[in-house]
Amino acid sequence: MKKMTSNEIRKMWIDYFTQHGHKYVESASLIPVNDNSLLWINAGVTPLKKFFDGSVVPESSRLVNIQKCIRTNDIENVGVTKRHLTFFEMMGNFSIGDYFKDEAIEFAYELLTSKDWFAIPLEKLYVTIYTHDDEAYKKWVEVGLKEDHLIRLDGNFWEIGEGPCGPDSEIFYDRGEKYDPNHDALEKLKQDEEQERYVEIWNNVFSQYNSKPGVPREKYQELPHKNIDTGAGLERWSMIFQDVPSIFETDLLAPIIRKIEEMSGILYNDQTSFK
Ligand code: ALA
Repeated sequence: MKKMTSNEIRKMWIDYFTQHGHKYVESASLIPVNDNSLLWINAGVTPLKKFFDGSVVPESSRLVNIQKCIRTNDIENVGVTKRHLTFFEMMGNFSIGDYFKDEAIEFAYELLTSKDWFAIPLEKLYVTIYTHDDEAYKKWVEVGLKEDHLIRLDGNFWEIGEGPCGPDSEIFYDRGEKYDPNHDALEKLKQDEEQERYVEIWNNVFSQYNSKPGVPREKYQELPHKNIDTGAGLERWSMIFQDVPSIFETDLLAPIIRKIEEMSGILYNDQTSFK
């Protein structure tokens, strides 16, 4: 595996997608603008919702960003696992009525595995898809993923608050046996349970519905066009490309911890509170 700083990861992400026709958009403020449905920006797609529902036409139908996010729906995991944060940066690529599932999977495959880009060995990747999504299954097999690295899960449907949503495909990186002392991590992944060996690094949402509070999922309206919304946590990518055991030891967070140690005179005693 390559060794990369968080800034090198950012740059490679933006370079790949701008070279593939995406327009770079700066991270929006954490405070939502003209959106009363949220207290803060919780995903890369959130400030772009207006493009997905057709109310505003973007300058380009392909966008790339690295969005500051606050997320509290999994706050019970923060400080417990080695990979959850309340504030993080989400790298994303978006198609607004442009490419859909097949191309999104091709982009993800190339960017992750090509020697010219992140060069992750394919056997280190595991992928989950929505139980009924045979198209995504077929495409992942076509690009070369082994069928025993593909998992169908009922929970693979992404939505957070009102707005664009749809079936998703989550990509996991296998950190190896040292994070799997009981040899049960794969089984846990298949059961959609917490484990530390396979880390979710990228979610590709095949965004084609509009969720509304109080409306059951099977009644969601189709969006005016099919879209792609993806999110990849910069802190988790940094953990993997810096080969450190937790996000807190990456070049994004370790310097802050060192400074707090210096100011408080108290040492950060590693992972004793982690499961
Ligand atoms: N919007 C999707 C997520 O936040 C990509 O996981």
